[in-house]
Amino acid sequence: MASGQLSREEALMRSHCRHACHVMLFSDTKAQLFGRTPMRHIVLMQMRFDGLLGFPGGLVNPSEETLEAGLTRELLEELGVALPVSVEDHVASCFAPTSSPSSSRLILHFYVKKIEEEQIKEVERAAASTATDHGHEVLGMVRVPIYSFKSGAGLPSFLSHSFIGNARSQLLDALLRFKLVTPEELHRALTQSVKIHA
Ligand code: GTP
Ligand code: MN
Ligand code: MN
Ligand code: MN
Ligand code: MN
Ligand code: MN
Repeated sequence: MASGQLSREEALMRSHCRHACHVMLFSDTKAQLFGRTPMRHIVLMQMRFDGLLGFPGGLVNPSEETLEAGLTRELLEELGVALPVSVEDHVASCFAPTSSPSSSRLILHFYVKKIEEEQIKEVERAAASTATDHGHEVLGMVRVPIYSFKSGAGLPSFLSHSFIGNARSQLLDALLRFKLVTPEELHRALTQSVKIHA
């Protein structure tokens, strides 16, 4: 396991830590961009109140609710839909990159859940209308462009935005783990993304 990584069980034994759970929702799609570039998958992230990109989810108190029940509650608040997330959807847990010495350490749990394209569209509709956090904690859902053009449009430009915590590396890991992009595609996108930053 990479540094800072720990198993779900190890994480839960850290009783003095705070916990947060976030999930990447994705689907297959036959949609094409401009009628010719296959989109292949829809991947959801959100624009947070702080102007950073992140995944839906939030703080969970394991003494009051399971990690997955807490994540499901956060999804109801932030997306406006009941979307049960289970232990099988868990992919990684790690310590937050930086936590101020005054507060107890934060452990970040990451989940990935594949759903149907229709459910993605329902999430987008609800998140923009009935979700209680809409316009407050969450400014809107965004789809991640997973295609890349030579100009840097698409994934390279998306990766050059600012992300909360380690959400950017969670995204990269999940894209590879679930084979939504090939290692070669990701490598090229990251190289182009660095040029955009410069
Ligand atoms: P409140 O209801 O206002 O407490 O917010 P919340 O419960 O929705 O918490 P939030 O989603 O902001 O997550 C809590 C903490 O986890 C944040 O302060 C970040 O440090 C971190 N965090 C938020 N989103 C992500 C994410 O997508 N990935 C990772 N790794 N960390 C995140
Ligand atoms: Mn929340
Ligand atoms: Mn949140
Ligand atoms: Mn919360
Ligand atoms: Mn809240
Ligand atoms: Mn709040």
